[in-house]
Amino acid sequence: MTKILMVCLGNICRSPLAEGILKSKVFSFKTIVDSAGTGAYHVGKLPDERSIAVAKINGIDITDQKARKFSVQDFDNFDLIYAMDTQNYRDIIALSRNDVDKAKVYLILNEVLPGEDLDVPDPYYGGDYGFRNVYKMLDEACSIIAEKINKNG
Ligand code: 4NP
Repeated sequence: MTKILMVCLGNICRSPLAEGILKSKVFSFKTIVDSAGTGAYHVGKLPDERSIAVAKINGIDITDQKARKFSVQDFDNFDLIYAMDTQNYRDIIALSRNDVDKAKVYLILNEVLPGEDLDVPDPYYGGDYGFRNVYKMLDEACSIIAEKINKNG
């Protein structure tokens, strides 16, 4: 069983999409996918309606998700932790207890362009274009992640 956690700031825009997209690409019997936010502003809320809409257009339902805050226990409960941007990455690393924790944390777009340390841009204050752009980036990254998991499983 591979356990993967997607992390952004609010857990309402980017990481719920990453969770939903990756779930659609992996075998559920050997993969657990969840998401969380480094901030607590939106805990308990559904994903942003613009994330719900862009997922729906692409045949993915993310309305079963509720925002939660990242916690130290997530280092124990997950094998791979994907940060959506470099600030999320730094915030997660700041909570790590040791090198084992740190080694689980990756910047998600480094799956697509290794070593470039690119961010999935925060779409919260923008329009629908930003959400479509985020969807495309995450779809590409999640295809690569899923291929590895499905092969290794
Ligand atoms: P997310 O987007 O980190 O992709 O969920 C955001 C959602 C809310 C806020 C910032 C980013 N906020 O400041 O409330």
